[in-house]
Amino acid sequence: MEKVHELISIETIQKKVKEIGERITKDYEGKDIAVVCVLKGAVIFLSDLLREIKSSRLTVEFIGLSSYEGGTKSTGVVKVTSDLTQSVQGKHLIIVEDIVDTGLTLHFLTQNLMLKKPESIEVCTLLEKPSNIAKPITIKYKCFEIPDKFVIGYGLDYEGRYRNLPYIGVLEITKD
Ligand code: IMP
Ligand code: MG
Repeated sequence: MEKVHELISIETIQKKVKEIGERITKDYEGKDIAVVCVLKGAVIFLSDLLREIKSSRLTVEFIGLSSYEGGTKSTGVVKVTSDLTQSVQGKHLIIVEDIVDTGLTLHFLTQNLMLKKPESIEVCTLLEKPSNIAKPITIKYKCFEIPDKFVIGYGLDYEGRYRNLPYIGVLEITKD
């Protein structure tokens, strides 16, 4: 059986997303920004965040990565399932991610994006589970730190489901 307990309400999320959007607006004034959204988990966060960034020089790219293969534990092997479609050379990249757990996905992604010769790369994540970090990475923009629990909702999934939940919840799976 699957049970969901609310961890972060939509009101709390929206307030924080607005704050982060305002910081990005200030930090990137006058710069060409390419926001790189990590599919699929970050799409809800992305759509709220984009509307809080005031810039006429912002473009959006998507990259598909997979390390979970559907379950609740990272396989440790990251695969690119779909790549960027435009050049990001000379642009200031902001990677938008749903959650940093071990850090392996983001470590892989920043190495990969570096080859595309951007002007700079920073990370913006909705969530971080600091207790699981295996590859230390610098996260410039972070909405929330959470305990080591499997969470779903607001874009995050369990076996592809629950992305549509409008808040962040902890998923409890019991046998019966
Ligand atoms: P990492 O490579 O271990 O940092 O894992 C990052 C990726 O694992 C994220 O982009 C998520 O897609 C997925 N992930 C990690 N923790 C959770 C969770 O609690 N719920 C849903 N997905 C998660
Ligand atoms: Mg992800």
